[in-house]
Amino acid sequence: MADDCAPSPWSYETTAVQTAIPRGLGETVGIPIHQAAAFQFATLEEAQSEFALGTGLSYARLQNPTVRALEERLTALEGGAATVALASGQAATLTALLSVCRAGDHVVSTSSLFGGTAGLLNNVLPLMGISATLTANTPEAIAAALRPETRLVWAETIGNPAGDVPDLAALAEVAHGHGAVLAVDNTWGGVGLLCRPLAHGADLVTHSLTKWAGGHGSVMGGSVTVGRAHDLSRNPLYAEGGEASLLAQRGAEALAWRARWLGAHQLGMTLSPHSAFLVAQGLETLSLRLRQESATALALAEWLQAQPGVGRVTYPGLPGSPHHAPARRYLQGGFGAVLTFEVPDPAAFLERLRVIRVAPNLGDTRTLIVHPWTTTHGRLPEAARTAAGVTPHTLRLSVGLEAPADLQADLSAALGERS
Ligand SMILES: Cc1ncc(COP(=O)(O)O)c(C=O)c1O
Repeated sequence: MADDCAPSPWSYETTAVQTAIPRGLGETVGIPIHQAAAFQFATLEEAQSEFALGTGLSYARLQNPTVRALEERLTALEGGAATVALASGQAATLTALLSVCRAGDHVVSTSSLFGGTAGLLNNVLPLMGISATLTANTPEAIAAALRPETRLVWAETIGNPAGDVPDLAALAEVAHGHGAVLAVDNTWGGVGLLCRPLAHGADLVTHSLTKWAGGHGSVMGGSVTVGRAHDLSRNPLYAEGGEASLLAQRGAEALAWRARWLGAHQLGMTLSPHSAFLVAQGLETLSLRLRQESATALALAEWLQAQPGVGRVTYPGLPGSPHHAPARRYLQGGFGAVLTFEVPDPAAFLERLRVIRVAPNLGDTRTLIVHPWTTTHGRLPEAARTAAGVTPHTLRLSVGLEAPADLQADLSAALGERS
């Protein structure tokens, strides 16, 4: 994990461009790429000490200076204690889940989820003896699904693609009252720009850095950021074993230590230094991009709502959205860059687009559209797709940086020929 940094004294924008760049003669202005697999020791004693402590540099599967710099930046932007950066968002989700749970344990998650996360919960965790219950995105439903062996509650800041915003503080209260932790996938929250779940009681946050953090559709990455205040004293994985327990040995750093040990050391889902560089660079302009994209998304959602032939439009920034009240409470600076809308014939509609591209990604500078029913959520059973807010007519739009007028004209032309 990157060092336990003090909370950044700077605003979001300054933190994003200034963190993790040392001052001094000959230092680079910007984060350099350390393209190396291993790091040297001057003496055997130094090597032995590093292998015993594991806090410095030895082998790049474990730590690399470029990846560390990115981790420091992510920690500062999320207001956390430590971060491990990994090869993808899926790697981060798996690492977060396995950092807290072991065979026999149980996870409760909202069902309004990215399809890949539902896949991990439903198909991969059972291979390890961990079970999961997916339920409605309310504190009451989450509380009702808890079992004595529930160790973790999972939610997304803004549900993919339904646009629902959970009551994070209430979810944290439910989880903590049970001795469990709250993990939030903050990918849509823009690395602490729109939302900092740790400030609302979450214990760890994950990201697909592939999305707004990288920001240009050019890199894969993921991260797990651990918060400063989390209590694992009722989790046997951490508390069992007296003097030999993880908590007795690692104290407040136990969760962060385990996340790096699992995701990077043991499973080898390491982020490459070149990818870390691209993500760190993407973070420097994230606030400009995501604010602009959110403003365009709101304008397009409002316009789409008024178009004949367009069915349900979901966007938490719409005053009529059932999720507008929690969105106003938990999101600042914008309501995110993603909206969904329904058209009668999605395939025909997509073929008529000339600016917007059909691609299964989010957070690109270019506006992207997908048909979740048959792509991102296509492997889920029908009932799970419906629970995630997807119908056969739903299209998901991730708004980029094109001029709003060009995007509106493209949508208008595709609608005009009656989809
Ligand atoms: C909310 C969310 N979480 C996690 C992921 C997985 O990230 P990756 O594709 O980087 O593995 C995605 C991917 O679309 C996502 O949308």
